[in-house]
Amino acid sequence: MYVGADYYPEHWPRDRWRVDAKLMQEAGFNVVRLAEFAWVNMEPIEGSFEFDWLDEALAVLRKHDISAILCTPTAVMPAWVARKYPGTLAMTPNGQRIVWGVRKNNCFTSGAYRLLSERITRAMASHFADTPNVIGWQTDNEFGGPVCVCDTCRADFQDWLRDKYGTLDELNRRLGTHFWGHKYTTWGEIQIPVAPGNGWRLAGRGRLSTHNPSLCLDWQRYYSHLNVRFQRDQVRILRELCPNHFCTHNFMGIFSDLNYYHLAEDLDHVSWDNYPVWHKPSISYGSAAAADVMRGLKRKNFWIIEQTAGPGGWSSFGRNPRPGEIRKIAYQQLAHGADGQVWFRWRTCTAGREQYWHGLLGHDGKPLRRYREAAQTAKEYRKLASDLAGTTIKADVAMIYDYESIWAVRIQPGFPDNDYHEAMRRYYDALFRAGVSVDMVKPTEDLSQYRLVVAPDLNILPDEVAKRLSDYVSSGGVLLTDCRTGVKDETNLCHDRTLPGLLTDVLGIVIEEYESLDDETEHRIVGKQDIEGDYTAVKYVDWTTPQTAEVLAAFDQWHLQTFAAATRNRFGKGTAYYVGVIAKEPAFYDQLIADGLNTAGVSPILAPPEGVEVSVRQGANKKLLFLVNHTEQQQTVPVPSGKRELLTGETTTDSIALDTYGVAVIKL
Ligand code: GLA
Ligand code: ZN
Repeated sequence: MYVGADYYPEHWPRDRWRVDAKLMQEAGFNVVRLAEFAWVNMEPIEGSFEFDWLDEALAVLRKHDISAILCTPTAVMPAWVARKYPGTLAMTPNGQRIVWGVRKNNCFTSGAYRLLSERITRAMASHFADTPNVIGWQTDNEFGGPVCVCDTCRADFQDWLRDKYGTLDELNRRLGTHFWGHKYTTWGEIQIPVAPGNGWRLAGRGRLSTHNPSLCLDWQRYYSHLNVRFQRDQVRILRELCPNHFCTHNFMGIFSDLNYYHLAEDLDHVSWDNYPVWHKPSISYGSAAAADVMRGLKRKNFWIIEQTAGPGGWSSFGRNPRPGEIRKIAYQQLAHGADGQVWFRWRTCTAGREQYWHGLLGHDGKPLRRYREAAQTAKEYRKLASDLAGTTIKADVAMIYDYESIWAVRIQPGFPDNDYHEAMRRYYDALFRAGVSVDMVKPTEDLSQYRLVVAPDLNILPDEVAKRLSDYVSSGGVLLTDCRTGVKDETNLCHDRTLPGLLTDVLGIVIEEYESLDDETEHRIVGKQDIEGDYTAVKYVDWTTPQTAEVLAAFDQWHLQTFAAATRNRFGKGTAYYVGVIAKEPAFYDQLIADGLNTAGVSPILAPPEGVEVSVRQGANKKLLFLVNHTEQQQTVPVPSGKRELLTGETTTDSIALDTYGVAVIKL
């Protein structure tokens, strides 16, 4: 089990390195991440490399039994790169090159940049291949940098489209360029569909691009491919020269400019950067969902490679983690499958843009409260290590997490507030409150291992996926899906079938009409059958006509009397739910999820009080129950009695008391 900190020895005098390494060892740390942005320190002049300083830092760390993950440093190009090879700087949508000086300034198709990246990667990999305490590599930093619209990128995009569609006729047909006379007559006419003034963001983020939505979707796919390709070039070198090291990358959790499934393919495991401490303390649904997305990318455990250590910010900073919170944040991730835990950062830097991004140590370098809390956590992790070995989350419930639908909804939300992640969270949070673990999976995942599959806002529904969902239900699965699912095909054209298209029989409904609701319009939803109470429909309604489906919730508006707000349908051996509204009240989703779990025969291990998170890690003959109290109140949680709580060593009675931000790990 690796626990440690992100460390930048190049920021501090050499005689401090020994002090830091000793403090790390005393804290129970055994790993650091190094050299993330240190390209110019390693290659101060083109082609001449200086690794002595890093050798020395690694040797100091080694004396204290600390291993290291090295980074390919390509997220910040040295100033000499920009000066010598100006084409390496990304071009903004206004046609100007980025002014060098922040980070992530580069164009990913620049031949010079790709060569320079390969050279520094090769130099580092050959130099450190046999350094005893180097264990792995992080590629670059948080892929998903600027959008570049330079000529090279445009030509490369055109090539990518040619590879994909083969002929221009096929491209014109699939992208629907008959609309507005957008037909292309040569490949060279194709433009990058980014709106001027759209800054660094892609079409659909910030200022909306009003280009052809099908072209926008392909551009987004291409942009993702660029990042994946850049990483692949580095990973190929690392694998060749350092076969004993692992390769990872620091993903950003719920970040969707890239198809993270693709980015994860070339890596041994996913790592991610978790910064949940900004606003006033609240239940960390978001970090739980992000962790499940991260575990879903490779369907295996992951690392936290940057974990909140203090208030963060580049200009002004946020709140300080309260006592117990640093530990609680770490345990939440452990409970979701984190096998490594690295705090960002070790010591708060006195210089540069991140002076206010606080680490475990302050500017003064003293081991104060945050350090002590991390140290306590590290030592506890050690104690748990043998029980944790070989365990992961085995969920009965899956949620389809689909980057293509995320992008399609971003490009054209349909109704103004449609946000894929909000849709996902309506159900995810209800499952969290129910104490049920969730696997986030891609639409083409084998669903047969799950009892309940939730597919929110699945805007892009290729026929193949519709068929999978349908087969899943007919052979006994329970599916829950909702508004705007299945509207589009894989090229972002609307299907020319009555909604819900190929899911009509599965869901037992027909949707001939639908509408978005302005902020002043709300409709009352009335629970029927297994849904109790009244709720409020906002933002959007499908005018859903039940055919074979039962009505679980109806409307009381005169014009919606014949339509259903939510339905349940038996199909083959399974059941399919459809939710054609957005309800204001979370309780509506709690009821739907409770009914879905019941139909699917999934029973939560216990009923947690609100704000207490439940998760189970299991492996061969092992089962560990994690309880995490996200509230500032003491909570009493019903638990199986006669079991051992591993942190205190005590035997459980039928309930356990958790302090503010308290955690428990019970061996079942
Ligand atoms: C990201 C980066 C880190 C650091 C932090 C804080 O997560 O990966 O290098 O910059 O943000 O800004
Ligand atoms: Zn470019």
